[in-house]
Amino acid sequence: MPEMPHIVKRVTQTWVVEPSGPLRGDISVRGSKNAVTKHMVAAMLGDGPSVIRNAPHVGDVDITAAMLEAAGFHVAREDGAITIAPGSEVRPKVPEAFTGLNRIPILMLGPLLHLTGEAFVPLVGGDPIGRRPVDFHVDALAALGAEVSYGPAGITAKATGLPGGRLHGARITLPYPSVGATETVLLSAVLAEGKTVLRNAATEPEVVELALFLQRMGAHIELSPDRRIVIEGVDKLKGASTRLAGDRLEAFSYLVAGLITGGEVRVHGCPQDRLVTAITTLARMGTQFDITDEWITASAPEGLQHAAVHTDTHPGFMTDWQQPLMVLFTQANGMSVLHETVFENRLVYVPALQKMGCEIEVFPNCLGGPACRFHDGNALHSAVIRGVSKLHGAEVELPDVRAGFSAVLAAAVADRPSTLHGVHHIERGYHHPFDQFTSLGLRIKAAA
Ligand code: EPU
Repeated sequence: MPEMPHIVKRVTQTWVVEPSGPLRGDISVRGSKNAVTKHMVAAMLGDGPSVIRNAPHVGDVDITAAMLEAAGFHVAREDGAITIAPGSEVRPKVPEAFTGLNRIPILMLGPLLHLTGEAFVPLVGGDPIGRRPVDFHVDALAALGAEVSYGPAGITAKATGLPGGRLHGARITLPYPSVGATETVLLSAVLAEGKTVLRNAATEPEVVELALFLQRMGAHIELSPDRRIVIEGVDKLKGASTRLAGDRLEAFSYLVAGLITGGEVRVHGCPQDRLVTAITTLARMGTQFDITDEWITASAPEGLQHAAVHTDTHPGFMTDWQQPLMVLFTQANGMSVLHETVFENRLVYVPALQKMGCEIEVFPNCLGGPACRFHDGNALHSAVIRGVSKLHGAEVELPDVRAGFSAVLAAAVADRPSTLHGVHHIERGYHHPFDQFTSLGLRIKAAA
């Protein structure tokens, strides 16, 4: 097996963040973490090399590259370009060493089934933000003809009992428009025998980007209205080349970094249409925007006002934007409300912010929007946030990637330095965050 990068070995890092006044400057965002890894998996299906450009250097890419190499693919990385080429032999078992590191192994089942007729992937991980089951993925693969079984270490799937050892098309309706399950269907149905109709599919820009890449590889995919995707299986796919669009989560996070510190950050490289709901939400709070085809700048010279926001599937306010927004709410005038409707436990990071002085109360009720899937459970998925709160420096453990970034934002406006442990979570999803933050003027000391 190839040498594992440090992120795979989970090296914990600590930052000491000093409040440093207004953050100002220019940030360029690369392609999104949640697109690049899926493109890498799609590249497994091509009979020649694929090239993914404008790729971020994030921990999830390191993990995914190591998994592809373990499965027998050649992965070369150079200055933001990732080239993936078939090797001499596909190994259908993703090693258990990758258990719990990210969400990608489950997406590899379909491609491995096409290449070898059987596959094993270890249990998936990712952020601890809800139960994060994989039942939609497994049910979809079963509908496409795979024989799927769970074991204590992971999931085994077989297509060997099917005619020609090939998955077949199916009619699939997702119980919820899951990003990952939609991607599983795309990655599995493109080479299946016959037509697949997927209803209630996710329409997030990263999903559409993956569908376009697969189309470039030769797949027959129709994106229909009403969350319907029709895929006609083809016999083979070729390698393809693409340039990823800028990461909307990263762009939003740095725009908020400028706003919360009373500064102004200009973000290059993320198309406006990927941020439309975020821009309107911040504008309603009093943010002034300058938007061109190349960059977006946000500032709030008159201060910010409270708001009520609920997260949703695309094109709603995305769940990965709520953590920076939560900290921004603590610095806006008045009481704000945030209702998380996508992951039931995505407010688990609130205690770390409370420790830093954020006045946030969490509730199991659906506040600030219509009732969601979690309305009759006990999950604390709504928050009431009092602004303006005086934040203080503290020592905290970062629970996940987006919450980790938020803790840095809170530390940037606190009254004294904060010590943040678990920075590898931020590095899993943000491109060179230490360099980006310091270029904006944030004083950070990295400790091992
Ligand atoms: N769900 C199920 N069963 C499944 C799959 C999903 O019940 O088999 C549920 C989930 O528990 C959740 C909802 O469906 O309540 C939506 O989950 P989804 O499958 O859409 O999320 P995901 O594919 O696991 C991706 C991103 C997340 C992002 C969400 C929503 C990746 C690697 N992750 O997760 O990003 O929040 O879509 O847009 O693409 C992040 O980058 O920090 C992150 C967590």
